[in-house]
Amino acid sequence: MAGKIPQHFIDELLARVDIVDVIDARVTLKKSGANHMACCPFHNEKSPSFSVSQPKQFYHCFGCGANGSAIGFLMEYENLHFVDAIEMLAESVGMDVPRDESAARKHDDLRPLYALMDEVSKFYQQNLREQPRAIDYLKGRGLDGEIAKRYGIGCTPTTRDALQQRFPEATDALTRCGLLTTGTDGRRTPYPRFRDRVMFPIRDRRGRTIGFGGRVLDDSEPKYLNSPETPIFHKGSEVYGLHEARRAVQDANFVIVVEGYMDVVALAQAGVDNAVATLGTAANRQHSEMLFRVVPNIVFCFDGDRAGRQAAWRALQATLPVLEDGRDAHFLFLPDGEDPDSYVKTHGKAGFDDLLGTRVPIVDQLYAHLSADVDMSSVGGKAQLAEKAKPLLQTIPRGVYKQLALRRLESLLGLSLGSERAGATPKASNQRQRAGGGGQLTPMSRAVLLVLQFPDLVATQPPEAYEFDEGLAGASVLMRLIGYCDADPATSTARLLERFRGSSDEAAVNNLAVRQWWPDGRELDRDTAQEEFANCLSRLADMSRPDPVDKVTAGNRTGLLAVPRRR
Ligand code: UTP
Ligand code: MN
Repeated sequence: MAGKIPQHFIDELLARVDIVDVIDARVTLKKSGANHMACCPFHNEKSPSFSVSQPKQFYHCFGCGANGSAIGFLMEYENLHFVDAIEMLAESVGMDVPRDESAARKHDDLRPLYALMDEVSKFYQQNLREQPRAIDYLKGRGLDGEIAKRYGIGCTPTTRDALQQRFPEATDALTRCGLLTTGTDGRRTPYPRFRDRVMFPIRDRRGRTIGFGGRVLDDSEPKYLNSPETPIFHKGSEVYGLHEARRAVQDANFVIVVEGYMDVVALAQAGVDNAVATLGTAANRQHSEMLFRVVPNIVFCFDGDRAGRQAAWRALQATLPVLEDGRDAHFLFLPDGEDPDSYVKTHGKAGFDDLLGTRVPIVDQLYAHLSADVDMSSVGGKAQLAEKAKPLLQTIPRGVYKQLALRRLESLLGLSLGSERAGATPKASNQRQRAGGGGQLTPMSRAVLLVLQFPDLVATQPPEAYEFDEGLAGASVLMRLIGYCDADPATSTARLLERFRGSSDEAAVNNLAVRQWWPDGRELDRDTAQEEFANCLSRLADMSRPDPVDKVTAGNRTGLLAVPRRR
C-alpha cells in the first residue's frame, strides 16, 4: 500500500507541512525551549511529557514512548491508515497525491462499489426472510433473529439469475466486487460466485460492506467461500465482526480473536459480543496493529490441537513487533476438538468467561513454545533456547515487554545476560527513557542514533570516514541513512524514519531516534554530537580491521537491538 505513493512525494509533503501546525490543531502546544510541549494525547497524564520538535519534524512522548512524523501522528491520533493520513496531510497544504493511473481510476470509482455492496447485503437479508431452509439452518445453529439482524446475515437467492435481475445494470460492478465470476474462461457469461449459501457480510470499521463469507447449508465443499480480493476488500488487513463488536470491545477493553464466522456470531448469541475473526488466514502483523489501534488488549483464541498451537505461534510472532508499552496480548486455548462456537454452546457465557481466566500472557506463551522441545536441564538445551529466543526478542520494541522477556530468559537460563538496566515498570517509563543513554550503545547504534537525530552530521565527515565493514552489525542501516542524507541534505528525522516504515528495522530506528544520549536526560548539543559522530566512525573503522574478537563483541547481525554486554 505504502509503495503506491512515491517516496519523493512523501519527502516533499513532510517538507511542506509543519508538524507543529498539524499537532497544534488537535492538541494545544506550548513552546518550551527548542520544543513544543503538551500533555500526551496517547496516554493519561497530568504534567506534559509530549514534545514536538520543529527542526526534526518529529514528536515524542517521554512518558509512553509514542513517537513519529506528522504522518505517524495523524495515523495514531485520527486512527487512519497510512494512505489516508497522507491524503489528509496533502489536502491541508493543497497538494495532490500522485497515483499511477490504474490506482487513480480505482480510487475514483470505489464509492459506487461500496453502495452496491450495501444493496447486495440488504438483498441477501431479504432473501433470508423467504427461505425457510436457511432460517432453519441458522436456528439449528442456535442463532435468533436479533443476532442475524445485528450481523446482517442473509442468504443467496434460490434462483441463479436473481442477483442480476435485481441489479440489471451492474454486471461490471458486481464482477469487480467478486459477486459475479466468469470462472477461468473469460468468455463465459458471468454467474454468481455464491449459491446456496448463508451469507455473512464483512464490514469495515465504518460499517461499509466490503465482502462476504458464505457457508453451505449442508456438507458440501468448500464449506466457506469468501469474497476474493477486490478494490475494496483486502483479506490480509480486515477482520470479521469488528464493526459489530466495536462498542463491546471498548467496554470490555479487550478483543477476542477467533478463527470462524460462526464462532463470532455464536459467542455474540451467548452474550460474548467482543469477538472478531480473521478471514480464513492466520492473524498477521497488520491485524494485530489494526486491533491495537482500537483496544490495548488482544486475546487470541485457538483450538487446543496441534494446528491451533501452530496458528497461535504465528499470531504471537506477528504480535511481538507491535507490542509497545501499554498494549498486551494473551492466548486462550480450547480443549481439543472444540471451537468457541461449540464451547460456548455447552458451557454458556459463564463457562467461556471462566475459560478466559486461563488465558496465557504472551511472554509465557513465547517461552512455553520455545522450550517445548528443548531439554532445559542441560546446558546445551539452554543454549538452544537462548539461540531461538534471540531473534524473537529483537523484534519486540524497546520497553516493558522487552525487559520482561529478557529477564524471563535470564531466569530460565539461570544466569545473568547483563540485560539493559532499567526500572522498567509502566509507571517508571520516564525513568526508563532516561536510563541507559546513547553512550552505552555499540558504536554502530550510536552512529545511527546520531544520524537520525542530527541528519546534517553526515555532510560534516569526509567520504573516507564512511569506509567501514559492511558486514558489521547494523551497517546496512547506517549505510542507508548516510545515502538518504547525501541525497537530500535538507532531510529531517521524520523523513528518514518514514523510509523505514514497514521494514524490519522500523522499531529499531524509531527507538534510536528518540533515545537520549545522556542518562540524565540532558539534551545533546550539536557540537558534542559532531565530535561523538567522528569518534563512532573511527571506532567502526577500527572494528572493520580484521580482528575477530572485536567483530563478535560488536553484536550479532542486526545488532541495533542487541543487548550491550556488561563490562
Ligand atoms: P472451520 O473449518 O474451523 O469452520 O473454519 P467453523 O468456523 O468451525 O465453521 P462451522 O462451525 O462448521 O460453520 C474456520 C474459518 O476458516 C475459513 C472461514 O473463515 C471459517 O470461518 N474457512 C474454512 C474457509 O475460508 N473456507 C473453508 O472451506 C473452511
Ligand atoms: Mn465451528
